[in-house]
Amino acid sequence: MADRSSPIRVGIVGYGHLGQFLVERIQREGQKVGLGLAFVWNRNAEKLRGSIPEELILNNLADFTQRGADVIVEVCHPQIVKEFGVRFLSQAQFLVGSPSALSDSQLDQELRQAAKHYGNTLYVPCGALWGGPDIQRLNDSGALKALSIRMSKHPSCFRLSGGLLSDWSEGEGRRVLFHGSVAELCPIAPNNVNTMAAASIAASTLGFKGVTGEIVSDTALADYHLVEVEVTGADGFSVKTVRKNPAKLGAVTGNATYNSFWSSLLVCRGHGGRVYLC
Ligand SMILES: NC(=O)c1ccc[n+]([C@@H]2O[C@H](COP(=O)([O-])OP(=O)(O)OC[C@H]3O[C@@H](n4cnc5c(N)ncnc54)[C@H](O)[C@@H]3O)[C@@H](O)[C@H]2O)c1
Repeated sequence: MADRSSPIRVGIVGYGHLGQFLVERIQREGQKVGLGLAFVWNRNAEKLRGSIPEELILNNLADFTQRGADVIVEVCHPQIVKEFGVRFLSQAQFLVGSPSALSDSQLDQELRQAAKHYGNTLYVPCGALWGGPDIQRLNDSGALKALSIRMSKHPSCFRLSGGLLSDWSEGEGRRVLFHGSVAELCPIAPNNVNTMAAASIAASTLGFKGVTGEIVSDTALADYHLVEVEVTGADGFSVKTVRKNPAKLGAVTGNATYNSFWSSLLVCRGHGGRVYLC
C-alpha cells in the first residue's frame, strides 16, 4: 500500500470511454488506494473543460515531462504509443492501453529497449484475456507450443478497416471474418484485438506472427462478447477457456474490461526495466 501522504501521480492520455472511467475513479477512490492525477490529455482539450480542474489539463502532450507523472496511461490510439511510448518510458512507468501497437516489431523492440535502458516498466493490461500470467509462465519455461484466440461479438461491436463487415443484417447468424496470425489481424481490427495483442506479448516465443487470431461476427451475441483461448503445451498439455464478457450492443469494450483496467493500474508501482503483464 502506498504512503498516503505521497500518492502515485498518474497521467491519463486520452479521454474516451476508458480515459473518462479511469479519471472518474481516481478522483473518487484515488486517495484510498494511493493514486492521484498528474494530468489529463485529450486530442481535443475542449472535451476536458468543465469536468477536469484547469490545472490538470495538459494542452500539449509533449509537455508531459513538466508534470512529474509516476505512471502514464495511454488510452487513446496505437499511433500515440508509436509517437510517445519511448518518451513516456524515459520519464515514468507506462501502462499501454493499445498494445496492438506492439505488432510493429520495430516499435516493440524500441519499447523493450527503452524500458530496460530507463529502468521503467512497460505494463500491458490483460484486458479481456483470461489466464495471461499462466500463458506467460508457460512461455518463459519454453513449453508453449501454440496459442489461438477467438473473439466473437455482435456485428455492431466491430470496428474494422476496409469495409470488411459493412453488409451485415440482423438475424444473419454467425460469420467468420478473419482467421490467421494476430500480426495480420491487428491492422484490420486495431480496436478489437487488444486482448489478442496482450496474449501475443505474453507468448513472446510465438510473437504476433505465431499466435493465431480469429474474429467472428454473430448476431445472436446481443448481450455479451465471447473470448475463447486455447493454449497448447508440451507432451499433450492443453487448456481451453471461454469467457463471457457482458457488453452493451455496439460497444467495443466489454463491461468487465473497465474494472480489469482499474486492477491493472493498481499494479503499476514499478517492476524494473521490463515488460509486465498485469
Ligand atoms: N487493452 C485492452 O484490453 C483494451 C480494452 C478496450 C480498449 N482498448 C484500447 O484503448 C484505447 C481507448 O479505448 P476507449 O474504449 O476509451 O476508446 P474511445 O474511442 O472511447 O476513446 C478514444 C479516445 O482517443 C481519441 N483518439 C482517437 N484516435 C486518436 C489519435 N490518433 N490520436 C489521439 N487521440 C485519438 C478519441 O478522440 C477518444 O477521445 C483504444 O485504443 C482501444 O482500442 C484496450
